[in-house]
Amino acid sequence: MKLDRLIAGHHAMGRQAAHRAIAGRRVRVNGTCVTDGHHPVDRFTQVELDEVVIQRPERALYLMMHKPAGILSATKDDLHPTVLDLIDDPDKHTLHIAGRLDRGTSGLVLLTNDGRWSKRIMAAEEKVPKVYLVETQEAIAPEAVETFAHGFYFHTENITTLPAELVILGERSARLTLHEGRYHQVKRMFHRVGNRVRSLHRESIGAITLTADLPPGAWRALTDAETLAVSGC
Ligand code: URA
Repeated sequence: MKLDRLIAGHHAMGRQAAHRAIAGRRVRVNGTCVTDGHHPVDRFTQVELDEVVIQRPERALYLMMHKPAGILSATKDDLHPTVLDLIDDPDKHTLHIAGRLDRGTSGLVLLTNDGRWSKRIMAAEEKVPKVYLVETQEAIAPEAVETFAHGFYFHTENITTLPAELVILGERSARLTLHEGRYHQVKRMFHRVGNRVRSLHRESIGAITLTADLPPGAWRALTDAETLAVSGC
């Protein structure tokens, strides 16, 4: 939302009075005087008019978790424990997940209450790389590298997957980088080359990497640099 709209809506003040207040240096955004009515604001912004707070900022949360296998990527479930059950923060009910993992998959999960931030991560067109460690049932054929780079046609969605980088690490293990997040994508890709995924672990999303200090089930707030890195990935 733009600043002038927020001010105009305050006690139905109207647009003209809002512009006068902004131009008259009566408005402060996060403590700084702003004279541009188009200045962007959201629910995490503090806005003052004549030194009275007219919008108190909500607390923005950006968290990373090391999801253990067996925990559901959901905020609520009647049957299984969820990632939210592992978090003890008074505002945890405001969180949503930016990119789910299957129940059996472990690794990096991001949670936030900032919808614009999570949208940037999840939007397919942003092509944010997601890196997975994969262990397979059968040996991985060297030709799979080219097949994954070429892409697979998924007829249920009528799409061809974006080129994916497969690096074979061992007979049955590989690191896979995807630039999108389709339903069961890694499992479906390996199935298409006649193999099966035995275990799957997400190491990173864009510039955010699961850090070694987080054992399975642990979480922490992202640093400012990690939070900001999303817009640059
Ligand atoms: N691909 C999968 O098949 N499962 C996941 O959890 C993530 C990507």
